[in-house]
Amino acid sequence: MKPLVDVDTLDQDKVLRIDLGSQETKRNMRKYCADWGNRSPFYVPHEGHVIVIVGRQADALEVYHDRERFSNIIPKDPAYRMFDKFMGVRILAQMDGEPHDRIRRLMTPALSPKAVARLEDGVTAAIDRLLDDIEAGGPRFDGMKDFGDHLIYEGMLWTMLGLGPDQKAVFKEMHRVIPLITYISAGETYPDECVRAFDAARKMIDQIVIERRQNPGVDLISALIAARDEGDKLSDEEMFDQIFTVTAGALSGTTQAAGSALYSLYSHPGTVQRLQADPNLIPQAFAECQRWHSGYLTFPRFPVADTEVGGTKILKGMVVRVCPQAAHYDPEVYDDPQRFDITRNARNIAFGSGPHLCLGNNFAKSLLRIAIQKLITRFPDARLEDPAMQVEYGGAVGQMRIMSLPMVIA
Ligand code: HEM
Repeated sequence: MKPLVDVDTLDQDKVLRIDLGSQETKRNMRKYCADWGNRSPFYVPHEGHVIVIVGRQADALEVYHDRERFSNIIPKDPAYRMFDKFMGVRILAQMDGEPHDRIRRLMTPALSPKAVARLEDGVTAAIDRLLDDIEAGGPRFDGMKDFGDHLIYEGMLWTMLGLGPDQKAVFKEMHRVIPLITYISAGETYPDECVRAFDAARKMIDQIVIERRQNPGVDLISALIAARDEGDKLSDEEMFDQIFTVTAGALSGTTQAAGSALYSLYSHPGTVQRLQADPNLIPQAFAECQRWHSGYLTFPRFPVADTEVGGTKILKGMVVRVCPQAAHYDPEVYDDPQRFDITRNARNIAFGSGPHLCLGNNFAKSLLRIAIQKLITRFPDARLEDPAMQVEYGGAVGQMRIMSLPMVIA
């Protein structure tokens, strides 16, 4: 493919040639981010594109908040297909302006703190069941494969969406294939397994909406069907798109966050004991886990014209990516950023900022708070088998999804 922007014409001091999605890159990401959090945006050539990585927190916030200069809508050209993880579904995070704001307004009540509080008993019961299974299979368990990976399936697909086992299997398959899309080359078509998984998900969502229309329950889909804003409501197509957004976005974000939380808490001696002594610290400890170990690319932004951020030229045709992990290591914002410290009580941008701030953040925080509290109470002496373990990462390009965390109950 002919490059959209010729990288050789750019300031070469700002060009970094790394493989953005490799295992090695992910393993070194926290080390790279110690530097990226302290430098102006820079260019990474990637599959025919020039990606502008935005690391410093002030620069990241400038991009997140400026919708006039940075569009979330993916250009139609096939060269951009790798950024369209949801294969053409109009997800909220990839919409702009009033059409975005209207859908967001309609969805907000279904994900409000009050709506989330109504789901907490169901989430707690789902987590208790997971811990029962771990106890029955103990003393060894895998913090991800037996716990972290299941939280969102059990806590959200069951409790929040009210899905049964066959329906869950369809979403699990979708969750498995979505990252593959981010690894395709510019212009390449979507892998067959992705197309099959999406077709299955589409059929299932359509069927669930029909069922819920007839028998509404205390779940997110019923809430979306009932959503109204001054006479306005979601159309069938919009409903499908947003159920898809919520399931797909939530699955990947929350699984990644669960891995970050377990790994960060259990690889820092004394932290779990501190939370056992004072469980009120759990929400801020979770925030610190998200700061210390987070994803390194959020949804792409597309400059509508040539512009500049933090002293770096950004040309139309480039793809701008905020790097939360780097913003979380910005020394202007965090004192000694590499230090893990659950008492720092500092804000982070793991859920984004501005008009696209994560709509599911109340639910994700509640789910993870309950999960951490239950785990450390039920298995007070649980630990990583090897606190100095080499972490293996999976997920999409930009995600730091921990695949396995071998642990023992006591
Ligand atoms: C800890 C878990 C999660 C993390 C770290 C996370 C992170 C994010 C981030 C960073 C964004 C904004 C991206 C950007 O502006 O580029 C976002 C958007 C979004 N997230 Fe999450 N998310 C999580 C869980 C969830 C859950 C559980 C749901 C739904 C129940 C959800 C639904 C959404 C939606 C709908 C958007 C789009 C908002 C908009 O564009 O207006 N997320 N998320």
